[in-house]
Amino acid sequence: MSFAARSTPRLLLRPFVASDAADVLAYRGSPEVSRYLMHEPMDEAAVAAFLASVTPARHARVDGHRLQLAVEWQGRVIGDVNLRVSSVQSRQTEIGWVFNPTHHGRGFATEAASELLKVAFEEWGSHRVFAQLDPKNAASARLCERLGLRREAHLREESWFKGEWGDLLIYAVLAQEWATPAES
Ligand SMILES: CC(C)(COP(=O)(O)OP(=O)(O)OC[C@H]1O[C@@H](n2cnc3c(N)ncnc32)[C@H](O)[C@@H]1OP(=O)(O)O)[C@@H](O)C(=O)NCCC(=O)NCCS
Repeated sequence: MSFAARSTPRLLLRPFVASDAADVLAYRGSPEVSRYLMHEPMDEAAVAAFLASVTPARHARVDGHRLQLAVEWQGRVIGDVNLRVSSVQSRQTEIGWVFNPTHHGRGFATEAASELLKVAFEEWGSHRVFAQLDPKNAASARLCERLGLRREAHLREESWFKGEWGDLLIYAVLAQEWATPAES
């Protein structure tokens, strides 16, 4: 099933197209951006391979499937967000985000990820949506909290990551928590 683009007040979430390459290189090519990502800074060839792997965005209900969407603002791609089917049987979904530092600090990631949570719960019927992050990635942890995800776990040195042992934080929100957010 292909993904129908979704609008938010400021943004368009849509499948990537090959002509997004320059915009994607501008952020996924950055060492600052990739510091906490699995990949090293991308070059043009890596961006082309990335775009080939995520275009067109389709949703298949199989474990491991990833829906990766471009986040467009004023006609340019300023970042991307993704959902990954962690378990079809248990309706577990992982959420992720990567934005161009030029556009950090304006709530764009919050706005895009909020819309993606709607996709996860309302369209995919997820029971639980979770995020995994390095505890040093404070901006990502704040984003989880703004979105209403709870900090569930802090795993110590659970992976060898970019030359050192890395901790892992797990944040999550259940469908019923998302539907009725706690009062702050
Ligand atoms: C993680 C990441 C997406 C967070 O980006 P961000 O710019 O901090 O998040 P937002 O776009 O939601 O902006 C929120 C910030 O803007 C401020 N803000 C301004 N206007 C806002 C609005 N309308 N709505 C919400 N926040 C707003 C918030 O106060 C917040 O500031 P703070 O972090 O100083 O508290 C970004 O740091 C990133 O792309 N990092 C590199 C890739 C990465 O590490 N990805 C995650 C791997 S786990």
